[in-house]
Order: sequence, then C-alpha cells, then structure tokens
Amino acid sequence: MKTLFLLAMLMALAVFVSAISPGSEKPKGKINRFLSDRVVLTCEKYPEVCLIKGSAGSDCCKNKCVNLSTDVSNCGKCGKKCSYGKICCEGKCVNPRTNEKHCGKCDNKCNSESSCIYGMCSYA
Ligand SMILES: *[C@@H]1O[C@H](CO)[C@@H](O)[C@H](O)[C@H]1NC(C)=O
Repeated sequence: MKTLFLLAMLMALAVFVSAISPGSEKPKGKINRFLSDRVVLTCEKYPEVCLIKGSAGSDCCKNKCVNLSTDVSNCGKCGKKCSYGKICCEGKCVNPRTNEKHCGKCDNKCNSESSCIYGMCSYA
C-alpha cells in the first residue's frame, strides 16, 4: 500500500515537471519563432494574421502569409510560379533584364530614351 502511494506521488511529480519544464526555458527569440510559426500555421483559418506587422504579406497561400504582388512562388495568385530568372512585380512575372518598367528590379522604369539591357536602363 505504501509503495503504491509512493508510485502515485512519483507519477504526479513527473507529470508536474513535464508540464512546467517547456515553459521554464523561454528565451525571447524562441517565443517570437513560436509566434511566427503559429502565424504561418493558421492564416487559412484566420486570414487576419497576415495583416500583422512583420508578416511576409497580407495574402494567405497554403496557410502561408505571402505578398501576391512580389512573391515569385505566388505571383498574382496562389501557386503561380514565375519561371527561372523572372521576378514578380505587381503580381506579374517579368524578366528584369529586359523589362522597361521593372528594369533590374520592380518599379524601376527606364525613360523614353533608354531601354532595359541586362537589367540596366541604357542609352542606345
Ligand atoms: C507587397 O509588396 C509591395 C511591393 O513591394 C508593397 O508595396 C506592399 O506594401 C507589400 N504588401 C505587404 C502587405 O507587405
């Protein structure tokens, strides 16, 4: 009878220790990572999590917050991948080496006298 009681106490102690130990070591970085993992995991259920500061974007694709206007894997809509060498600008896949409106990077327009050559607005 006494050993049974001791065993029960030990088990209760083990449960108690395992319940508190994950919480007892919490450096700040870990909490933040935990939080952002949660954000990644729940945007399908709670789309508003993608609106918080630090989110990759306000749109939710496959439970991930993304920016549809710039994400090369979700360009314009979820799952739309840009082919190799292209970037996503304003939701469209463009070739930054030749695109006159997005030359080298998004929104870098070449003026009327220059053209985009190898990603740079060059005067011919
Ligand atoms: C998405 O990207 C565009 C272009 O860089 C930027 O203007 C916009 O603020 C971004 N949206 C979010 C929610 O980050």
